[in-house]
Amino acid sequence: MIIVAHTPAEVREIVDAWKVQNLSIGLVPTMGFLHEGHASLIKKAREENDRVIVSDFVNPIQFGPSEDFEAYPRDFEADKALCEELGADMIFNPEAPDMYAENFSTYVNVDEITDVLCGAKRPGHFKGVCTVVSKLFNISGADRAYFGQKDAQQLAVIRRMVRDLNFPIEIVGCPIIREDDGLAKSSRNTYLNEAERKAALVLNRSLQKGMELILDDGIDDAKTVKDAIRMEIEQEGLAMIDYIEIVEWDSLANVNKIDGPVLCAIAVYIGKTRLIDNFIVGEV
Ligand code: PAJ
Repeated sequence: MIIVAHTPAEVREIVDAWKVQNLSIGLVPTMGFLHEGHASLIKKAREENDRVIVSDFVNPIQFGPSEDFEAYPRDFEADKALCEELGADMIFNPEAPDMYAENFSTYVNVDEITDVLCGAKRPGHFKGVCTVVSKLFNISGADRAYFGQKDAQQLAVIRRMVRDLNFPIEIVGCPIIREDDGLAKSSRNTYLNEAERKAALVLNRSLQKGMELILDDGIDDAKTVKDAIRMEIEQEGLAMIDYIEIVEWDSLANVNKIDGPVLCAIAVYIGKTRLIDNFIVGEV
């Protein structure tokens, strides 16, 4: 039976016993409503660690005031069943007051690389992510933590934070898991109606075009690649571009000429739903 923990103290008590036995611990931080993208992280953690903890917490402080915190999909029973099926040892499902005391006042902020891409569009988002992830690292005492390339900037920001603050943890990046038709799996895909679901394919389709230009045609001018992606997306009536960027991986510095590892990342509104997708040329 999977262990269900609701408070940091409950997690700590069990983790302390695991540590005495010298067991390695893998952590998979999630906001729940788990799909195959999350499952791929849990499977990898299962392969590489003696114990696996999945955190399942819709973190209020990483959502802006006009964002979808209330509407964010939740289904704890299904999440628990999937974690159990995948062989996770513990699922940590706190309530907000268990994580944020009334006078909570300490935050973790990573400068500069949070000013671009999604960080530029979602002020305070990465401060909320870094703060909760720091807490999860401390609570879980994990040796390794697993993050998806789906949220490439998040992966780069967490790696920077871990390096800068000397967290004793290894960050493992995992590839993007997609639907059969190419749409990147996301809990937010549930917001899409039938027409929007079809329109959402433009994200992966446009990125494929961009990737072909770089890898097959040898185009190294970032603007040419971004323009081709923009043209493809603009042909889709339900899509509205939020950003198209090509940056150095994993410093996220702006790139004009593509001559090393780069991240090409896009954010696109399909109707009211904001979706992100990306590809990386080089090692994740
Ligand atoms: P969430 O969106 O639930 O994602 C949890 C993890 O699953 C992230 O590392 C994300 O990159 C990964 N993931 C999501 N979709 C994926 C896909 N299609 N393929 C591969 N990996 C995928 O990211 C968060 O939650 C939160 O910001 C969190 C880190 C938990 C902090 O609250």
